Amino acid sequence: MLIRRRRGWEIPESAATPESLFFSRRAVIAAAAAAPAVLAAGSIGAGMRARAATAEGPAADLYPAARNPAFTLDRPLTDEAVATSYNNFYEFGTSKDIVKAAQKLPIQPWQVKIDGMVEKEMTLDFDELVRKMPLEERLYRHRCVEAWSMAVPWTGFPLAKLVAMAKPLGSAKFLKMQTFQNAAVAPGQKQFWYPWPYTEGLRMDEANNDLAFLVTGIYGKPVPKQNGAPLRLALPWKYGFKSIKSIVRFTFTDEQPVGYWEALQSSEYGFYANVNPEVSHPRWSQAKERLIGTDEMVPTQLYNGYAEQVAGLYTGMDPKKIYY
Ligand code: MTE
Repeated sequence: MLIRRRRGWEIPESAATPESLFFSRRAVIAAAAAAPAVLAAGSIGAGMRARAATAEGPAADLYPAARNPAFTLDRPLTDEAVATSYNNFYEFGTSKDIVKAAQKLPIQPWQVKIDGMVEKEMTLDFDELVRKMPLEERLYRHRCVEAWSMAVPWTGFPLAKLVAMAKPLGSAKFLKMQTFQNAAVAPGQKQFWYPWPYTEGLRMDEANNDLAFLVTGIYGKPVPKQNGAPLRLALPWKYGFKSIKSIVRFTFTDEQPVGYWEALQSSEYGFYANVNPEVSHPRWSQAKERLIGTDEMVPTQLYNGYAEQVAGLYTGMDPKKIYY
């Protein structure tokens, strides 16, 4: 067994990564194949390289967008070179060091499909979509289920604007989102034991919450491939795995979508995944988080500090459902 148990947040990233669930009974083959990657993850994290986000990319002329002062932080921004070189993007590998591999993803042109329970299905080019939307910059905390966090200036637009454009039918209860599928450029997708394409979902009222933000940029530039170009989600009150990258499809549905991690290990990764320091992950504590790029540990906050904006979405719900 490669996973060594330690106390709470002292577990190393290599142990805390979701990929440690490879050792679930569902993925015996995967365990053998992924073992070197799991072992390597710790050293790659430590040897993080500095890279800056590219100033090029789709609709580069739209950046920087004006900052929305309503979204402030209680901590300094994470260094750009760190936030754009320490990534989770399993399509390109199970380590944090996927920058180089991710550059193979073609993002121009990029089509986005909107389908399911909508008045009229549509497919838009990313460039067309982004130019329809009111871009703004927001400073958000970003808390990974692995007990590290960043503070990032995202540029984008509220997910609610896309929902409004899509005109969902009254029967639509959920929004399901999917990442591209192209194993020719994303070697992770050759690993058939993962439930590709990466999928995530939200209840309609969550999707319409003002905090749910579709990201097209970071640090005042188009978002680079490793961070989910050209279009990703940022849901700051939820664990980072809900913030799906490189989205190609939005489907309005009456069935609760099953996310990628939930499909792999539903006892550890749920549909709601709201941040709560008092509810431990089955294998580690969520009480604290490491500010990536520093050695500093800080207490984690309920809903990652966004309770005022989102707690009302979950009134009366079973706490056992909403915090994992
Ligand atoms: N989206 C896709 N398509 N593939 C992934 O592997 N990883 C998730 C999320 N979105 C992931 C994804 C996880 S676990 C986290 S913490 C964040 O992306 C990481 O975003 P970042 O690399 O920009 O920090």
